[in-house]
Amino acid sequence: MRVGVIGTGHVGLVTCVTLAALGHDVVGTDQDAEKIALLGAGRAPFYEPGVEELLAEGLESGRLSFTEQPAEAIAGAEVVLISVGTPPHASGEANLIAVENAARAVARHATGECVVVEKSTVPTGTASRLTAIFERENPDRARDFAVVANPEFLREGRAIEDSLRPDRILVGAHSERAFAEMRRLYEPLIEQGFPLIETDIASAELAKHACNAFLALKISYANAVARLCERADADVGAVTAVMGSDARIGPVFLEAGLGWGGSCFPKDLLAFDRLASRLGYDFPLLREIGRINDEALEAALDKIKDALWNLEGKRVALLGLSFKAGTDDTRFSPAVALAKRLLDAGAEVAAYDPHAAANAKSEVPEIDIAAGPYEALAGAHCAVLCTAWPEFASLDLARIKDSMAYAIVVDGRNFFDATEMLAAGFSYYPAGRRIHR
Ligand code: UGA
Repeated sequence: MRVGVIGTGHVGLVTCVTLAALGHDVVGTDQDAEKIALLGAGRAPFYEPGVEELLAEGLESGRLSFTEQPAEAIAGAEVVLISVGTPPHASGEANLIAVENAARAVARHATGECVVVEKSTVPTGTASRLTAIFERENPDRARDFAVVANPEFLREGRAIEDSLRPDRILVGAHSERAFAEMRRLYEPLIEQGFPLIETDIASAELAKHACNAFLALKISYANAVARLCERADADVGAVTAVMGSDARIGPVFLEAGLGWGGSCFPKDLLAFDRLASRLGYDFPLLREIGRINDEALEAALDKIKDALWNLEGKRVALLGLSFKAGTDDTRFSPAVALAKRLLDAGAEVAAYDPHAAANAKSEVPEIDIAAGPYEALAGAHCAVLCTAWPEFASLDLARIKDSMAYAIVVDGRNFFDATEMLAAGFSYYPAGRRIHR
């Protein structure tokens, strides 16, 4: 199929390269000229495993191209996917101006029947707004446009796998033509047996927010249990393993630690809460999920203070700066939030991250970025494991202990093995587990 993708951020670019890999002819467009030039040269503007490989394949096959001109992506396209940013307004509500502009461009430049897909995470009700745009901007051809909600469920760091081996494909539409076109778009995946869920549009839009809020809830629940475990001398890993063995609960997304961050959960929780109140329903649970998440960061800070007493003049080394492993994204990263709190309290912050150092540095220039983990840890009074990058598993503990000013590790992701830490002579502060001072 001939596909246009508006917006080549994380979701948009992954959509471009995976749809091209599925055999479609894809044209991606973005207003950022620098990004388009980079993509045309086969380079991804962010770190995401597998993207550059598929980008190269797509460009080479001729099935994938990029343009600054929206008209070139839209004209002739049977399906146009809108995957532009929906950042929060100060109120928490999603800013949908980029979605509106994209829809207006489609109304202007589409040349035939066209399915217009909401890929960006949008509040329920957005599809009717888009339909109204087509009716106003192009009344003679309004019937050519069919709006579809097709939210993505991809995780940064595993976005290619999540796109090509999805748990489910969700399509919300109101016409058989739209459903049929979407089945054609995802035919190679449907044929492989990946489940397709077809719903009305409002349900599909709402489901995306409901999923993200529930996932954040699971993590916050584990973090609240961790706070209790710390007070009861219990072990959060043991408790969540019991919880997770119940098929009704499931074992994933119950890892306690510094809490959740990223470009989705914080923004989507706020937007979902705003949406709920706009619809006349008070949903305080959503706010509580965020409060417990803030508390998780606070708990880590308390452990650092417990270990170091005064923070002024102490050097704290952060291992990891991205909001999770596998990405260079530092948006709403708990590691970056912790760095700011430590700096505010008068500590020096050194840090190492294999991919996210530049992004963190541009957000918080005071962070002393080190070339490697050992350089970050040398002379530090305390190490804080913030991001579970696999390479931290093979750190030489004896070497670290010798080079640090104090042998103290605060484990923000329960990443290390307590027995090994103690054997190596560290004071060890995990989350929701016994502290070894
Ligand atoms: C999340 C969802 O998982 C995706 O399904 C969704 O498509 C995406 O948002 C989106 O809306 O675009 P992502 O933001 O990439 O994906 O990150 P997650 O893997 O969900 O992790 C979010 C945060 O939770 C990270 O900071 C991670 O460290 C933290 N986390 C995760 C925990 O603290 N504990 C856990 O058990 C799991």
